[in-house]
This record gives sequence, structure tokens and C-alpha cells, in this order.
Amino acid sequence: MIFDTHAHYDDIQFDPDREELLAQMRAEGVGTIVNASATVASWEKIRELTRRYPFLYGMIGVHPDEVGDLDEETFSRMERLLLEEEKIVAVGEIGLDYYWDKESHVIQKQWFIRQLELAKRTNYPVNIHSREAAADTMDILRKYGRGMKAIIHCYSYSREMAEEYVRMGYLIGVGGVATFKNARKLKEVIQAVPLSHIVLETDCPYLAPEPYRGKRNSSLYLSYVAQAIAELKGISPEEVIKVTEENAMAFYAIRRRG
Ligand code: NI
Repeated sequence: MIFDTHAHYDDIQFDPDREELLAQMRAEGVGTIVNASATVASWEKIRELTRRYPFLYGMIGVHPDEVGDLDEETFSRMERLLLEEEKIVAVGEIGLDYYWDKESHVIQKQWFIRQLELAKRTNYPVNIHSREAAADTMDILRKYGRGMKAIIHCYSYSREMAEEYVRMGYLIGVGGVATFKNARKLKEVIQAVPLSHIVLETDCPYLAPEPYRGKRNSSLYLSYVAQAIAELKGISPEEVIKVTEENAMAFYAIRRRG
């Protein structure tokens, strides 16, 4: 079944129909969802979602645009949630965003490194957000992320860099962008990276694939992403769905429950 490794069902865009939408997932072939965390305010909502839906797991972390939320008190709350909540399976999304540049690079790096170290100390994998910050992200991951499990979420850099991440043992997160006509660079990445190092993700409500580009995204549209990857690799969509699910299950250390 389809495994969505990075979604934001806590987002207000899902407030009108979250329950109805999530109720359809299993019947539509979506087996597992991991909900990413962007803000401190999202933590409680994510915890509730993981308690309510057996197939939904969560991450706890703070997005680089939002690290102004973090201080020693919230940071220790993050550690407690990681240790106490059974269905929190990763730290994320964490990283660097020099596109929006909402916080200084010094502050972004500082909290990125501290969240990485927390993940290492508590033995959790990480979900990395990196936008227009290729060199600094690689630098920090080389120094602080060695031996860790990481997904480079919504991968947007070169094929060479993707191959370097694969050598480091990391996975490449692929979503709706793979279906866009102008996504030449990402298509090259998909062809170069072995399927054993690719996972599916929506980043919903953002980044809906064609033919829904620009609309609200959901895990139900991941079949279009699987189809795009299958075409680029000359294999079947079923194979893409099966292998990426195995990759994600192993990554998040989730065992299939019936
Ligand atoms: Ni995200």
C-alpha cells in the first residue's frame, strides 16, 4: 500500500473535512501516513491525530522558518514528547530555508544542529527540509548527521548531491513535483537514485501532482507520483508503491499491523 512519509494533516486547510478525508485512505490504497511537524503549536494536534487514527504516525520538530518558536522550555518539551509518545517516530521537519529566510542563518543552523543532536541522542530518524541551502545543509549533515537515518524531504538539488546523500545512507523524498513538466532536474535525480533510496511524500496540503497542480494536495494523489516514478524508471507503479513502502516502514521502524 501507499506510504506517505511527509504530510501536514494538522493544517487548517483540512479543518472542513479532515475526518472524511482520512476515513477514505485505507480503501483508496493509502496504508500509512507520517504527519510532519512545522511549528510548536502543531505538536498537540499531531499527538491527537496519531491517537485517533491507527495508520497515522507523527514527527515532532520545528521547521527552519519557525525556529523563533524554540527556547529551552519548548526544546525540552520536544524531547519529552519523543520519549513518551509511542506513535511519534521521527524528528522533523528540521533544516535550513534560505528562500523564505525568515530567521537568520546563524539561528537556523543553531536549531538545526540542536534538533539533529536531539534525534541522535534519542535514537530517532530525521526529516530534512532544505531550500536554497544546499551547501550549508550538506556541511551540517556531514558533521552532525553521520550514521543517522534521514530523508531529504522534497528533494530539489542536483543529481550529484542526491548521489552523495545516497552514499551517506539517506533517502530521497519525492512528491508532486515529479509529475510537473518542467521538473527536469528532479526527473534526472529519480532516474539516477536506486528505488531502494526513494520514498513517496505529499507535503500536503501543498505541492499537489498533475493533474491537480495548484489544488489542495492529499495522500490520495500519491498514485500519480508513483506513476511518474514508474515511467522514469521503466517499472510498474505497483513495484514503486511496494518498494517505497518497504523503505519507509524500515526507515520509521513501523511494523505492519494487520
Ligand atoms: Ni512539510
